[in-house]
Amino acid sequence: MGPGDTALVTGAHGLVGSAVVRRLARAGLQVTGIDNDARAQFFGTAASTRAEGEALCRDLPGYTALDIDLRDRQALSRLFQDRGRNFALVVHTAAQPSHDWSALDPVQDFAINAVATLDLLEQVRRHAPAAHFVLLSSNKVYGDRPNRLPLEQRGQRLVLPEDHPYAATGIDESMSIDQSRHSVFGVSKTAADLLTQEYALRFGLDATVFRAGCLTGVAHRGTALHGFLNHLVRTVLAGDTYTVCGYGGCQVRDNLLAGDVADAIWLAAARPGLGVYNLGGGPSASVSVLEALEMASELSGRPARLEIDPAARYGDHKWWISDTGRFRAAFPQWAPSRDARALIAELVDGLGPR
Ligand SMILES: NC(=O)c1ccc[n+]([C@@H]2O[C@H](COP(=O)([O-])OP(=O)(O)OC[C@H]3O[C@@H](n4cnc5c(N)ncnc54)[C@H](O)[C@@H]3O)[C@@H](O)[C@H]2O)c1
Repeated sequence: MGPGDTALVTGAHGLVGSAVVRRLARAGLQVTGIDNDARAQFFGTAASTRAEGEALCRDLPGYTALDIDLRDRQALSRLFQDRGRNFALVVHTAAQPSHDWSALDPVQDFAINAVATLDLLEQVRRHAPAAHFVLLSSNKVYGDRPNRLPLEQRGQRLVLPEDHPYAATGIDESMSIDQSRHSVFGVSKTAADLLTQEYALRFGLDATVFRAGCLTGVAHRGTALHGFLNHLVRTVLAGDTYTVCGYGGCQVRDNLLAGDVADAIWLAAARPGLGVYNLGGGPSASVSVLEALEMASELSGRPARLEIDPAARYGDHKWWISDTGRFRAAFPQWAPSRDARALIAELVDGLGPR
């Protein structure tokens, strides 16, 4: 794959999609993006991704933006009938991305995350069978099984005993995805994840599935329901109160810059066959909520105001750090570019007053 090839990116104006569009355009690909600004419908106008779509159209002369709802089977079918044979790469990032929101409207969540993924895979199989298909899946496919790990509190974070196999590296792909609380979102993402694998195995599509931890970047339209680190930094900068939900704020997540995700996608897209990988920032990019608030406060010079709601969010992970060993073994040139402090510093800088 290289200059002059054509790519389709769904969710093209969101955090990951927009980073992918820019990465592919930089490699010389002709990029078509699909986005209907559903993020504004899920989380309100402050979460709209329309401005990023306009910026892509302004910055990238060859970029084509299509305002299509992925659930619109006829529109999708028309697009693939017209242009499908040209697609060398299809990157599917569009989603209802919040596990909390999914309980508000399980049917819509499943229609977008699972059914529309099936429709897209079917269009690729029929019209673009040589394209590489990349799915942005989620660590929520593992449900809340990570919460069964023998976690202990140390200072402001939960930790594993040092001799635990995941303690230094994080969680790998061998963790069971069965018999745990997933949230409706976790189930719809698992369906998409397994469907993508099945289309690769049964119909011979080249496909990569990334089970991502927390992803971030200045371009994220973070809200309380989705976009952990971006929302946290926005809250501190605005002087608002951040609500910590459960686990005393000691729950741990790793975080990865969207640009690093785009680099991983670009590398994976060149490899035939099926790949399923955990993808995240790893141990050095991990923080507890309390640690993140402290860092954001220190780096911005603003006090962190927080309230602790003792009720944890349904199925929320107490500890997630991605072991990216399998991906890095296949693509040794890839590594997360930022640790936790550098990520938060970049958000403080990019989201702060200009
Ligand atoms: N951000 C994270 O922390 C994170 C973590 C793990 C997995 N993921 C996955 O990565 C992917 C991208 O996440 P993100 O953070 O960029 O989300 P995002 O909300 O910023 O971007 C998704 C985009 O998809 C668009 N979209 C949603 N439904 C659509 C529809 N029916 N038709 C057309 N467009 C639609 C939205 O308008 C939005 O611009 C998602 O699949 C998400 O589940 C994200």
